[in-house]
Amino acid sequence: MATIQVSIVLVMFFLHLFSGARSSTFAVVNKCSYTVWPGVLSSAGIPPLSPTGFILQPGESTYINVPTSWSGRLWGRTLCTKDSSGKFSCLTGDCGSSTVECSGAGAIPPATLAEFTLNGAAGLDFYDVSLVDGYNLPMMVVPHGGTGGNCSSAGCAADLNGDCPLELKVVDGTGSEGVACNSACNAFGNPQYCCSGAYSNPNTCKPSSYSEYFKTACPTAYSYAYDDGTSTFTCAGADYVITFCPTPSTSIKSSNPTAVDVSACSVPASSSALIAGALTTLAAIWQLRHLF
Ligand SMILES: *[C@@H]1O[C@H](CO)[C@@H](O)[C@H](O)[C@H]1NC(C)=O
Repeated sequence: MATIQVSIVLVMFFLHLFSGARSSTFAVVNKCSYTVWPGVLSSAGIPPLSPTGFILQPGESTYINVPTSWSGRLWGRTLCTKDSSGKFSCLTGDCGSSTVECSGAGAIPPATLAEFTLNGAAGLDFYDVSLVDGYNLPMMVVPHGGTGGNCSSAGCAADLNGDCPLELKVVDGTGSEGVACNSACNAFGNPQYCCSGAYSNPNTCKPSSYSEYFKTACPTAYSYAYDDGTSTFTCAGADYVITFCPTPSTSIKSSNPTAVDVSACSVPASSSALIAGALTTLAAIWQLRHLF
């Protein structure tokens, strides 16, 4: 573990020395009791990050080096399988690429999305976690080592898949388990919920009872199209830890009660060690950057 961290720090350090401009690091951490396949999509005109999709077993984390001025989104895919012909697909957050890499394809709603514009206006990073395209798993974005703006945690720590209003709920093949939660815009498509047509400005498009459901459960996430004020955050010169299922929960995705009990006992210790490891690495990267 320590050797791996030292190697990561050294690699990041040399990348930084030779790149000239400041880059950022995303630590992507899976604290869920189930496997997550993150997907990454760069905005139009922005070069792709590498990789554009990967697997994270429970307890695993991956570090991604993100160039200056990158903009795009990151999300988690769940309940993925490969069929007999080798075609990869996911029940939630699928990007339709048929492979683990998304290669320029975005998430099919509903999916919880972490959105970034690094080094934007006034040199600030802009970031948010959006539920405008629905929700499929808990995700928080936590900045580290940044200054200025309102550098703080953004996202949704709550597990809404069981609790989701029936008319928004997405269930698995058996029809019994909630696996995602649509936004009202996805579910009903009307202009009031989508902030389109006559409702395409902040004066006419107001929060709905559905967007308020998301806002109450997830106060620092985007709940509808004009929710900028309370859900867009800014920070300068930060690295970001993006955590799936930040709060250990007895997920409905573990159907075996014994397995749930075991993970409820063992997850807090191992996941706090994981987060501590990620933070130590980010802190070391940050210190090295500020030495030069
Ligand atoms: C964070 O700061 C930006 C301006 O830099 C502002 O637009 C936004 O509303 C602030 N976000 C929160 C959650 O206060």
